[in-house]
Amino acid sequence: MAIYNKLAKKQGAIAVLGLGYVGLPLALEFAKYFKVIGFDIDSNLIASLQNKVDPAGEVEPQRFENVDIIFTDDEELLDQASFYIIAVPTPIDDNYLPDLNLLYKACQIVAKYLKPGDYVVLEATVYPGCTEEECVPLLERISGLKCGKDFKIGFSPERINPGDKKHTLSNVVKITSGCDQEAAEQIAKVYQTIIKQGIFRASSIKVAEAAKIIENTQRDVNIAIMNELAMILNEMNVDTNEVIRAASTKWNFLKFYPGLVGGHCIGVDPYYLIYKARKLGYEPELFITARKVNERVADFVVDNILRLMAKNRINIIDANVLVLGITYKENVRDIRNSKVAKIVSRLKQYNFNVDVFDPKADAEEVRNSYQIDLIGQIPQKRYDVVILAVVHDEFKKLSPAQIKSFYRRDNGILIDIKGYFGNKDLDLLYWSL
Ligand SMILES: NC(=O)c1ccc[n+]([C@@H]2O[C@H](COP(=O)([O-])OP(=O)(O)OC[C@H]3O[C@@H](n4cnc5c(N)ncnc54)[C@H](O)[C@@H]3O)[C@@H](O)[C@H]2O)c1
Repeated sequence: MAIYNKLAKKQGAIAVLGLGYVGLPLALEFAKYFKVIGFDIDSNLIASLQNKVDPAGEVEPQRFENVDIIFTDDEELLDQASFYIIAVPTPIDDNYLPDLNLLYKACQIVAKYLKPGDYVVLEATVYPGCTEEECVPLLERISGLKCGKDFKIGFSPERINPGDKKHTLSNVVKITSGCDQEAAEQIAKVYQTIIKQGIFRASSIKVAEAAKIIENTQRDVNIAIMNELAMILNEMNVDTNEVIRAASTKWNFLKFYPGLVGGHCIGVDPYYLIYKARKLGYEPELFITARKVNERVADFVVDNILRLMAKNRINIIDANVLVLGITYKENVRDIRNSKVAKIVSRLKQYNFNVDVFDPKADAEEVRNSYQIDLIGQIPQKRYDVVILAVVHDEFKKLSPAQIKSFYRRDNGILIDIKGYFGNKDLDLLYWSL
């Protein structure tokens, strides 16, 4: 029986391996129509999901209702699955090279339970070629089965945008692909069930892999252009945001803004493409430069804080700094690859007293990842410098009077990284990218 029919009749289950930002919404959406096994190696996460609580704060409790799903860390339950979706992290290592260890581990687990007729689909972001060159041989070796003949493989990249309630899983077109025509058809059919906006059927797995990686690499390059512009305009005392507003009045200008590029995707995925390109003997200079420019922004911010303080005769030693926001972007809890943490670490090297406040981030996670103790409320003391690093909704509500009350001096400095407040009503020493 074709895999779609088998799943539709609930004679086999979909297993989702990795229930994080990508895997959990996907598993719950599929579970509206199919039998789903949500598997994760993190037992604490599983316990929380069994209580209908998503620790990432992305999925509301009501989405756990009326779905056919079990959450487990017991891999033996994967035996009941026929369609395995892998959504585990694909980070980089200390040398900025792809770290595929978690992906390999997930493939090893799947391979143990793989049966003839089963499907494996990768949702984790990888470089073009990775699914067929890395995952297939591993699956074949451990399962003893042959890809294409005994089991099928595919790739369907995730486009989820944490914190974004508009572009959700089911209302954004999804790319699917398979190792042969039958696989491509069947995988598209399975995904079609949950994606209201439609499916783009890529002609090969490599096309689907490359499409995902260029989506994020393109954003990285475009943001790098604006970061480079901001660094140049800073020397001229020209407001970058106003320049972008002005340029945007042209019909074909692309509106990107300068900023810190952290997180798990835009700051990471380009390294996967860079790695593959180099393996092929091609030096992707533009992508490498974009990464370098974006990685430089945290230092650029710190350099400007020091410059402003020196210029305005504010003593650097034991200055009090308040940092608002540490997550990698606004209105999410995710602190992975936070560039704000890099700013904090550099400020501490200069003996600044730094308080960090973030109403969204998990304090324990921040402590474990960055050795930073978040403060529970603001202000804890009066400050010389306030850095609005991440524009969470909570910070948008701050009035100019409230912001001014955070300072212990008249000529306090406001570092408004993304230029959210502007310096109109504030009468402070103001700087933004
Ligand atoms: N977060 C995003 O916005 C986003 C968007 C598109 C694509 N992606 C890609 O999707 C993939 C997953 O990212 P994420 O943000 O959901 O990660 P995440 O860290 O939020 O979740 C991954 C989960 O996988 C689990 N895990 C690790 N190894 C496992 C294994 N062997 N078996 C089962 N579970 C395992 C972890 O415990 C964790 O709960 C990555 O490749 C990422 O690049 C992420």
